[in-house]
Amino acid sequence: MSKIIALFNQAGGVAKSTITQNLGYHLSMRQHPVLLVDLDPQASLTSFMGIEPSELETTIYDTLVPKDDDEELLPIQQNLHGMDLIPSNIELANAEQELIFAELRELRLSQVLEPVRDNYDFILIDCPPSLGILSHISLVASTHVLVPIQCQFKALKGTDSLLKTVARVRKRLNPQLKIAGFIPTMYQASTSLDNRTLESIQNQLGEIATIFPPLPRATAVAEASEEGKPLALCSNKHKPTLHLFDQLAIAMEKLA
Ligand SMILES: Nc1ncnc2c1ncn2[C@@H]1O[C@H](COP(=O)(O)OP(=O)(O)O)[C@@H](O)[C@H]1O
Ligand SMILES: [Mg+2]
Repeated sequence: MSKIIALFNQAGGVAKSTITQNLGYHLSMRQHPVLLVDLDPQASLTSFMGIEPSELETTIYDTLVPKDDDEELLPIQQNLHGMDLIPSNIELANAEQELIFAELRELRLSQVLEPVRDNYDFILIDCPPSLGILSHISLVASTHVLVPIQCQFKALKGTDSLLKTVARVRKRLNPQLKIAGFIPTMYQASTSLDNRTLESIQNQLGEIATIFPPLPRATAVAEASEEGKPLALCSNKHKPTLHLFDQLAIAMEKLA
């Protein structure tokens, strides 16, 4: 059974897209077929994978909101750095409005992924930075949710509504949804504030799910996304971060 993991946090800039890409890469290095799904109209994941979003003719949008004469073919870009990708671009911003009237809209992403689900061991969904319909349908389609949290002032602000959203999805449409864990990100060990934040993440969320080791802030990671590649394929690799992505991949393999 494939695992479908949503990278979810309504805050922007917490490394959702970065983790989606690199976790995907490390899973694929471990011989797993991986599909990445960009569900953010800002399309960071699509550009991190080396694709220019504005040049795309078909994206996830066309499948989520099919027009009458569209064939329902999934626009999968194959074998990008060893992974498959369903890309996005700014057109997806329309889906938020258009899905309001769609029948069974909450199941829309599950339906779209169903025909290809068995082709992959892992499907990673990169959520947009909001609690709107796109994040909602991602959680409905997923078996697990993984939550990156930036180690900064106000890190925990918003976790209440995040957890409530997960609880609501569980109660109504997807009782099987599990929280795979929280990943503290952008961590700077030399900063006492970051250390205090890390401690409060552990104290407040440790009972809910696993807290993974923090991902350090590292220029190499930002450079890799600019280059349109996973970190492991860049000349400046930042080994400690690669090791953490590896460990995260192993943890995802072990998820029940
Ligand atoms: N560990 C890191 N160190 C430094 N910069 C990072 C790190 N992880 C991500 N970034 C950069 O921070 C920005 C936001 O990351 P991104 O993955 O797009 O966040 P989100 O998807 O949550 O909005 C990007 O420019 C990315 O390259
Ligand atoms: Mg993103």
